[in-house]
Amino acid sequence: MNNVLITGGAGFIGSNFVRYFLSIEPGIQIVNLDALTYAGNLENLKDLPDPGRYAFEEGDICDSSLVHRLIQQYQIDTVVHFAAESHVDRSILGPSQFIQTNIIGTFTLLEAVKQYWVDEKAFSLEHVRFHHISTDEVYGSLEPNAPPFSEITPYAPNSPYAASKASSDHIVRAYGHTYGLPISITNCSNNYGPYQFPEKLIPLVVLNALTGQPLPIYGDGKQIRDWLYVEDHCEAIWRVIRDGIPGETYNIGGDTQPSNIEIVELICSILDERLPDSPHFPHKSLIRHVADRPGHDRRYAIDNTKISRELGWQPRESLHSALRKTVDWYLANTEWVNAISNQKNHQSWLQGNYQERGG
Ligand code: NAD
Ligand code: DAU
Repeated sequence: MNNVLITGGAGFIGSNFVRYFLSIEPGIQIVNLDALTYAGNLENLKDLPDPGRYAFEEGDICDSSLVHRLIQQYQIDTVVHFAAESHVDRSILGPSQFIQTNIIGTFTLLEAVKQYWVDEKAFSLEHVRFHHISTDEVYGSLEPNAPPFSEITPYAPNSPYAASKASSDHIVRAYGHTYGLPISITNCSNNYGPYQFPEKLIPLVVLNALTGQPLPIYGDGKQIRDWLYVEDHCEAIWRVIRDGIPGETYNIGGDTQPSNIEIVELICSILDERLPDSPHFPHKSLIRHVADRPGHDRRYAIDNTKISRELGWQPRESLHSALRKTVDWYLANTEWVNAISNQKNHQSWLQGNYQERGG
């Protein structure tokens, strides 16, 4: 692993991964290809360790000639593919961009590396890897007592987002099977931590609570997610790229499955502790139940057995300590928060999504 193309490295998980990867792999050069959509932010990449080993290229993963050029120009031997449209609610209101980026974009990247690695034989296939970042949402929703998702759980995606990710997983696997491309896939549960765009539950609730706005709970709030601190996810991806077997899939989860209402109440109690003089104390009083997400998956849970047994990975963080760290990060990074909160298109997204729900 020498020259690594990271796609979507200006987003939430991608930027955390760029930082983590530079610190743990002293020999690599990173190229970050990101279209800087509403979710991409170069402020997420300030203060990188060893920035001389990092280059940024603005562009779209669906742009075939750009992708081909970058892979050849930087002699890429490893791709870590994060770039995607990632928000379920947006996929319900406008699925088209999800089909384009998540499916066509992934296909475009695969075609480019196949040409360079397989057809042109730029490197021995033992020394290359296409790693695809995916989600547990491809497995659909679990019944209350069903066992957690394992790597052999059948795919049953329910939202346009989940279906587009499932589709991209299948295409990646097919390139491995048919063309012998050394691929790997990780299917991960809900991440939280620094730099998460405040359209997702945890940062949305923190920022709304700070300004005394309603904390919107979809439906009864008893839906269950498996929460993982983003740095734990980064470590798992690194282990899979380094030691995972080509062609394999690894599930990654946090072994922590609170309901949404429990998570929101926990955030409120952390804020009460940190800001006892806030005019919005107790923050719990801001909670409002609003119209549910159409087709809302009820429960996710991940079985970590394979990655833990084969690669020795386990989450290091507990929800209580990592959620405190996360809330503190949003409290400390007011410039980052204000820049996003004042974006016109973020405000119009919030209005459109929540007014309709009665929030
Ligand atoms: P994000 O929305 O924060 O960031 C996505 C990034 O991709 C942004 O920087 C954006 O500018 C870039 N991007 C979007 N379309 C692009 C295009 N056409 N070309 C180039 N760049 C483009 O997403 P995230 O939460 O960091 O998720 C990253 C990946 O991890 C996604 O593939 C997502 O499906 C997956 N994932 C996310 C979670 C989670 O909880 N956030 C959990 C499991 C898996
Ligand atoms: O499971 C992995 C997935 O986790 C990733 O693949 C997605 O990219 C990521 O966005 C996340 O999807 P979710 O839909 O689970 O995340 P979100 O933060 O949008 O919602 C978490 C839960 O909280 C979900 O049950 C919906 C609910 N929710 C969300 C929002 C934004 C609310 O109750 N109110 C809200 O305002």
